[in-house]
Amino acid sequence: MRIFITGIAGFIGFHVAQGLLKRGDAVVGCDNFNSYYDPQLKRDRAAVLEKQGVQIFDMDIRNPPLMEKLILENEITHFLHLAAQAGVRHSIRHPENYVYTNLEGFVQVMEVIRRHPQIPFIYASSSSVYGLNKKIPFSETDPTDMPSSLYGATKKSNELIAHAYHHMYGISVTGLRFFTVYGPWGRPDMAYFSFTNAILKGAPLQIYNEGQMKRDFTYIDDIVAGTLAAIDLGASCEVFNLGNNQPEDVLYLVELLEKYTGKSAVKELLPMQPGEVPVTYADISKSRKQLGFSPTISLEKGLQKFLSWYQEYYTIQN
Ligand SMILES: NC(=O)c1ccc[n+]([C@@H]2O[C@H](COP(=O)([O-])OP(=O)(O)OC[C@H]3O[C@@H](n4cnc5c(N)ncnc54)[C@H](O)[C@@H]3O)[C@@H](O)[C@H]2O)c1
Repeated sequence: MRIFITGIAGFIGFHVAQGLLKRGDAVVGCDNFNSYYDPQLKRDRAAVLEKQGVQIFDMDIRNPPLMEKLILENEITHFLHLAAQAGVRHSIRHPENYVYTNLEGFVQVMEVIRRHPQIPFIYASSSSVYGLNKKIPFSETDPTDMPSSLYGATKKSNELIAHAYHHMYGISVTGLRFFTVYGPWGRPDMAYFSFTNAILKGAPLQIYNEGQMKRDFTYIDDIVAGTLAAIDLGASCEVFNLGNNQPEDVLYLVELLEKYTGKSAVKELLPMQPGEVPVTYADISKSRKQLGFSPTISLEKGLQKFLSWYQEYYTIQN
């Protein structure tokens, strides 16, 4: 297989690219290395991939002629679209970034794929599509028409747009609803990462909803396995939950970080933030059945792996 990955220098793109390389697939990708979080981390991920022979183009997804040229030149057989403006809180201050990449950019990418309808299109959706739903665990058959953030609304829109392109042009489209993915080379804007920074510096940790939050933390290696299985399946038009199926208290996450850093956290308990939801919890029976998805890494084990990467990475940096 020859796979094109957008957002390849991002957290998930970096790991999926390595998973594909390991089994002998060829990978080409693009990223615009924007500064939503430290671009050096993206450059460092890209450097690791480039050393392994991956060609990475520094480009915006909103460049259809170049994207098309790369697909043709590299004889791409599968397309994995991960580039997006992520983050729930950021969408309050910078809604325009979500429209730019997640809506306009998504359509531009689909317009390119439309001219190559034989290429299966696998794209990142999110647990955020479940929005204000009360019923847990979240199942793919639940309605998803009550997003609680602009970010969630753009991801839901992606699923609708993908459906329309499948219907009109017969493209194979698969949406992956990722649930709070964490691990080595992770995203500094996410709680487990920023909490680690704060604990090590002795700075206060801002914990929302007075700590009454649960997240279905999912380790990156499990996400890679699910994504590779979705690429291989080439479903006609589906969405899949990729979550750990085991929500944990955010305060338990803090406890584990204290245990493995050997430092106490200074907790600043704050009210619920707009856009956030109290719990995420994936029903994975469909992914289990159709993708053989079976997460294996507990939060405790996964955080230890994250912390050992973190210490090594930031020691080299300093
Ligand atoms: N990490 C999670 O917990 C999680 C959960 C749900 C959904 N997702 C989704 O999974 C995908 C990957 O997430 P991630 O955690 O790796 O995020 P990430 O921010 O680390 O990766 C996204 C990459 O896309 C690039 N990018 C953004 N806009 C671009 C543009 N216009 N052109 C080219 N490149 C662009 C960024 O520079 C970044 O490197 C995203 O679509 C995200 O919304 C992630």
